[in-house]
Amino acid sequence: MSHESLKTVQLTVGGKTITLPILTGTDGPSVIDIRTLYAETGLLTYDPGFTSTASCDSTITFIDGDKGRLLYRGYPIEQLVEQSDFMEVSYLLMYGELPNVSQRAHFSQDITYHTLVHEQISDFYSGFGRDAHPMAIMVGVVGALSSFYHNSKETQDESTREVACWRLIAKMPTLAAMAYNYSVGRPFTYPKNNLSYAGNFLRMMFSVPSEEYILSPVLERAMDRILVLHADHEQNASTSTVRLAGSSAANPFACIASGIAALWGPAHGGANEAVLSMLTEIGTADRIPEFIKRAKDKNDPFRLMGFGHRIYKNYDPRAKIMRETCHEVLAELGVKNDPLLTLAMELERIALEDPYFIEKKLYPNVDFYSGIIFRAMKIPVSMFTVIFAVARTVGWVSQWREMISDPMQKIGRPRQLYRGNIERPFVPVEKRG
Ligand code: CMC
Repeated sequence: MSHESLKTVQLTVGGKTITLPILTGTDGPSVIDIRTLYAETGLLTYDPGFTSTASCDSTITFIDGDKGRLLYRGYPIEQLVEQSDFMEVSYLLMYGELPNVSQRAHFSQDITYHTLVHEQISDFYSGFGRDAHPMAIMVGVVGALSSFYHNSKETQDESTREVACWRLIAKMPTLAAMAYNYSVGRPFTYPKNNLSYAGNFLRMMFSVPSEEYILSPVLERAMDRILVLHADHEQNASTSTVRLAGSSAANPFACIASGIAALWGPAHGGANEAVLSMLTEIGTADRIPEFIKRAKDKNDPFRLMGFGHRIYKNYDPRAKIMRETCHEVLAELGVKNDPLLTLAMELERIALEDPYFIEKKLYPNVDFYSGIIFRAMKIPVSMFTVIFAVARTVGWVSQWREMISDPMQKIGRPRQLYRGNIERPFVPVEKRG
């Protein structure tokens, strides 16, 4: 009998048999509902890294890792990137449906209304060193927003929750651009609400008061695509962090700051920055075999950055689109032969023919090509992960809102397998060896 048709599983522990239900979603693997396991058997499950654990149910994003499919609310990412834009996708993620014309206009207005940040927020920046990493600044200033919106009803009242989501989506590009401008010693640029979300972000990052800023439609479109591609990715490390922080009914701005912290690491969003450093270190195609060898060596901590994924055991669909966008952006910017792109494509070719990568199903992920596009767009390396954070904010807030609105919601509180000392008496300092 295939496990797809099973409705329950039975587990026999010490002569007692218990029946556990199998819950089936609309797509993807079914799950064994083990909520009664501890009460009935006194046993817990053990799954570090959550490799076999569904931590929630959700209707937002679906990934089919074997086929390399990614859907937001049922719509394939390829169609959204081609036919939609970040504002619409944000509405879709938050509310579950694509907006009609009037919903779209209202939503856009709700977001742009909140793009300014409190003037006192600017003072926070001067407390950071000029060489502070912009992700460090983002963890700090987004967390600091909680002190401006410390409304105790924030998590209990749906309309207050909704406004918190709008504020976060709206203010992230403003704060991110401020982090960049602070690091290069330029004045902050206020948002201009008649521009698109992507256009406004680019203008706030790169305009200077002494010159007219001319927005390139190519870069605006590329930025919009990048934002759509990174907008959500179901229960990844940062989203799960946001959900866990939010499960205690904490302030939403503080929860998003915790998501930014989780995103920062090179195993997650920090990989886009790491890919560029890796390509720069490799330098020339003749050195690729040396790095492939290192990536396969168990005694060497080096990994091929931008390769591999917990869920995708096929080409990450976002990487495919990134690769195309990369070619388009470089062509439109008049970059004929970008040595890093040529190197990246050669690295990809060699890795995909290597038995180690084939056997372990390690394919390029979203971060493999994004750094090359960002570089062509003259975005500094330290801002790569910040852009990921700006895009992912809509995913974080949508997942946070879904969790808080769930009547079954409980505080997230994993258990452990304790392997420390058993109880022992205290030893006074003079008697310790
Ligand atoms: N280079 C070399 N070997 C690798 C790599 C890699 N990039 N990724 C995984 N492996 C090997 C790993 O050593 C392990 O081998 P073994 O079974 O012999 O111990 C096997 O493949 C499975 O890896 P894992 O670490 O158990 O898999 P995971 O699901 O825990 O980790 C990952 C997923 C993304 C953290 C990992 O593939 C990785 O470190 N990749 C490089 C960093 C990266 O590109 N991260 C961005 C992820 S996509 C963007 C995002 O969602 O944030």
